[in-house]
Amino acid sequence: MTMDQNELKRIAAVRAADFVEDGMIVGLGTGSTVTYLVEAIAKRVQAEGLHITGVATSKRTGKQAKALGIPMKGIDEVPHVDLTIDGADEVDKNFQGIKGGGAAHAFEKIVATSSTKNIWIVDESKMVDTLGQFPLPLEVIPYGSTKVFDRLNNEGLKPVFRLDDNGDRVKTHSDNYVIDLHVGKIDHPHLLANWLISQVGLLEHGLFLDIVNTVVVGTQEGVKVLE
Ligand code: 5RP
Repeated sequence: MTMDQNELKRIAAVRAADFVEDGMIVGLGTGSTVTYLVEAIAKRVQAEGLHITGVATSKRTGKQAKALGIPMKGIDEVPHVDLTIDGADEVDKNFQGIKGGGAAHAFEKIVATSSTKNIWIVDESKMVDTLGQFPLPLEVIPYGSTKVFDRLNNEGLKPVFRLDDNGDRVKTHSDNYVIDLHVGKIDHPHLLANWLISQVGLLEHGLFLDIVNTVVVGTQEGVKVLE
């Protein structure tokens, strides 16, 4: 029987929940795959009496985790994070990736880079040869955002302000805008990342490079743990 994308996300998430150990401070990402993860971790907390502390990367994740009984703290209330598990939008064979489909990439990157170990949970459709087919999300400060947009446009990076269902600009938890770059193919992710982060007004980009140690992939043949 063929599994749909949600089922592939779910089996990857359930497997990744096994990486959580008693006593850990655990970073919890954002997105539909992470929703399954939070459920699976909460089950373990209940069933095995695991003592963990969760650190959420979005209000949505924090609310779900709290409601399911996972003790939560803010990123600035913990000394470090032991393990962060998050979804991703694209992952290449070197474990470089694009995140930010849920506009949470700035918070996600802060938690990920505070974490000793990072795991991504994805369904197999997210594994790609070259990054960039998924539009690369940026978080930009509203003041002067048209100037940032024009600079990106002049570089041929095909920027588009992200809009919500009402046609309003999407705002992040920090009240910033999201611009997606429809580049199609990112041949040199490190070069692009370095250029982007040096642009004034651009708070963070969704290229997550050299951050992840393990990718747990839901495939039609079952879960694959890539290390
Ligand atoms: C949010 C993210 C998500 O992890 C990414 O968009 C994957 O989402 P999903 O699990 O819903 O496919 O980066 O900012």
